[in-house]
Amino acid sequence: MQTNSEEIIPLPLNFKTHANFNLENYKDLQASFQQDYLGTWAKLAQEELFWHKDFLQTLDDSEKPFYKWFPDGETNISYNCLDIHLKDRGEKAALIFEDEAGESEAFSYKVLHARVCEFTAYLKNLGVKKGDRVCIYMSLCPEAIIAMHACTRIGAIHSVVFAGFAAHALKDRIDELSAKILITQNGFYRRGKMVNLLEVATEAISGNSPIEDLLIFKRVKEPLSLQSSLKIQIHDVERELKNLVHLAIKNLNLSTHEVPEQTPEWLSGNDTSFILYTSGSTGKPKGIEHNTAGYLLWAKLTSKWVFDLKDEDVYWCTADIGWITGHSYVAYGPLANGATVFIYEGAPNFPEADRYWALIEKYKINIFYTAPTAIRSFQAWGLEYIEKHDLSSLRLLGSVGEPIGTETWKWFYQNIGKSKCPIVDTWWQTETGGIMISTLPGVNYMIPGTAGPALPGISAEINPEGLLHISKPWPSMLKGVYKNPDRYIKGYWTTIPDSYLPGDLADIYAEGYIKIGGRNDDVINVSGHRLGTAEIETALAKHQTVNESAVIAIPHAIKGEGIVAFVVLKQGLMNSTDSQQSHGSTEERERILKEHVANEIGAHAKPERIIICEALPKTRSGKVMRRLLKDIAQDRLPEGDLSTLEDKDVVAKLLAVAKLKR
Ligand code: WT7
Repeated sequence: MQTNSEEIIPLPLNFKTHANFNLENYKDLQASFQQDYLGTWAKLAQEELFWHKDFLQTLDDSEKPFYKWFPDGETNISYNCLDIHLKDRGEKAALIFEDEAGESEAFSYKVLHARVCEFTAYLKNLGVKKGDRVCIYMSLCPEAIIAMHACTRIGAIHSVVFAGFAAHALKDRIDELSAKILITQNGFYRRGKMVNLLEVATEAISGNSPIEDLLIFKRVKEPLSLQSSLKIQIHDVERELKNLVHLAIKNLNLSTHEVPEQTPEWLSGNDTSFILYTSGSTGKPKGIEHNTAGYLLWAKLTSKWVFDLKDEDVYWCTADIGWITGHSYVAYGPLANGATVFIYEGAPNFPEADRYWALIEKYKINIFYTAPTAIRSFQAWGLEYIEKHDLSSLRLLGSVGEPIGTETWKWFYQNIGKSKCPIVDTWWQTETGGIMISTLPGVNYMIPGTAGPALPGISAEINPEGLLHISKPWPSMLKGVYKNPDRYIKGYWTTIPDSYLPGDLADIYAEGYIKIGGRNDDVINVSGHRLGTAEIETALAKHQTVNESAVIAIPHAIKGEGIVAFVVLKQGLMNSTDSQQSHGSTEERERILKEHVANEIGAHAKPERIIICEALPKTRSGKVMRRLLKDIAQDRLPEGDLSTLEDKDVVAKLLAVAKLKR
C-alpha cells in the first residue's frame, strides 16, 4: 500500500545532523540484524550494559516460547542505572520532582544512589531477599522510584500497583503474588484533595493476607496512625530508616553521614525483575513477568534512540509508575542513559489547566512524552492556557497508549511543538517491555496518525487478517504470565505459530510504516488504560442485584473509549413499582452499580453508562452479540445479520431502554 505523500512531515534538519541515532547508524544496524540477528543483540548487550559476569549464550530457545535472554550472564538493573554514573555524573540531577502543591526536590545521581542504598539496607534488614515479591502501592514520587530500585538491587521482584486501583484489585494482586511486603504511603494530593492510600492498603490486607510487613512512607503531613487490628508489622519508614542509618554509621565508625554502599545482588540475565499486572480478555488480570538484562537493554536503547536523550536534556514522561511506561521510560530507561528525569505528582489541571505548560517553562523541559487522552484534554481546555507560557525549550514530543489520530497529532505538533519538534508515536505494550514501533527522530519522516516502522531488531509483520505480530523473539519480551504458563502460550503464541500476538490490528504502508487500528480482542482502552470487558463484567456480577451483564466500549471524545454496561438484574428487581419503592429507582441502581465497579477495580473502570435491560441479545448458542449492543449504545439501528439471535424482540426492547436513559 502507498501513503499519501502530502501527509508526510519531514524531520527538522538539526535532528538529522545531531541525533544520537542517524540514518547511517540505522542502515548499519539493520544490515547487521539481517546478517546475524542474535550476534547483533549480543554486541549491543556487551556495549550497553555492565556485566558482572559475561554471558556466553545470547538466547536460549530450547523451551520456546519461554525464551531466555542472556541466561548465563550476571548483571543488575539498579547498578546499571545508578552506580555506573557515579564517576562522571555524580553531581548531575538524576531526578527532579514537583508535587501538586508546588514543592520540589532534586536528587543528584550520587544522592539517588545513596537513598537507594539506604532503602536496600532497610529492606534487607526486614529479611527481603532475591526472588521475594514486594508490592508497591504508591503515587508517582521519588520514594516509589527509590523503592523500585532497592528491589531490583536486591533482586526482589517488585510489583507496582497503580494508586488508582481499589482495595479489591490490590488484594487480588497481593494474593496471587504471595507478597510478604507492601510498601505504601499515608497519602498524596490530587486536585487539592488528600488521597488516603493507607486506608485502601489497610483494607486490601485486612483479613487473610500473605503480607507480613506494611511499610509506610510519610508523604503528607497528617500524622501516621499506626495502631491497627492487623496482625502484621507496621513500619514508619522514615523513623526506622533514620535509626538504621545511625546504627550503621556507629557500627562502621563512619564520620560522615554516608550510607554504606549496598553491593547489588548479581542476577542472571533471565531472572525476573518485576511483575506488572495488565488486563486481558478474561475476568482476571495477568501478571506480566519481565526479565533483567534484555528488559534493561531495550529500555536503555529505545530511550536513547527514540527520545534522542542527550546529557543536557531535561526529560519528562507523564506516565505513572503504576504502568509499564512509568517503569521503562521513567524509572529505568532514561536513568540507564544518565539522563535528568522530571516527575510531577498531581493533576494536569491543578490549580489551573496550564499546569503542564507552567512546569515545562519552569524546568525548561526538552522532551515531553504523554498520552493522546491527555492531549485531547489540552485541546478541549483551550489555547489560552498554552499561550501564557514559553515552551521554547521543547525539542521532541512523544505519544503512547492508544492511536493518536491525525487531528490530535497535528494539534500537538502545531500548538505544543510549534511545528519544530518531531513527534514520536510509540507503539508498544506492557508485554513488550519497550517501544517496538516508532519513527526515529534522526532517521524517519513522520506521517500523522501512523506510528511508523518497526525499530531495528523488531520483526513486526501483519497477517492477511490484519493482525499485527512479531515473528522473532526480542530481548525485552515478557518471559511469561505469572503462575499461568497456559495463558501465556494460548494468549500470545497460538494464533500465529511461532509468532508473538499483541492483539492489535494494523495496516502496513510503504517503507514499512505501520498504522495501528486498535484492539482485536475484548480489551478496551480507556484513557490509555487497558481494561478487559470480562473484568468489568466479573466485577458487576459480584453485586447482589446483578444477574448478568455485557460490557462494550463506545468512542469517547477525551478518553478514547468509554465503558457502557448492559445489566440484567436479578429476578424480582425489574419493573415492578413495588420493588422500585423498596430497592430504589432505576437511576439510583445505576449509580450504585457504577460506584460498585469503581470500588471493585478503580475509578478509571467506572462505566459512563449503565443500561438496565430485561435481557441481553444472545445468539442461539448463547453468545452475547456485542456488535448489536455497540450500535444500540450509540443510538444506531443495529446493522448486519441478526438472524442468529435467539429472541428478535430483544432488539426493540433494548433500543427503547437505551433511548429512555438519555
Ligand atoms: C496497548 C498496550 C505501551 C504503554 C502504554 C500502554 C495500545 C499503545 C499505542 C500507540 C496505538 C497504542 C495498543 C496496545 N497502544 N501505544 N502508539 N498507537 N495504540 O500499555 O496498557 O500494555 O496497552 O495500548 O492497543 O496493545 P498497555
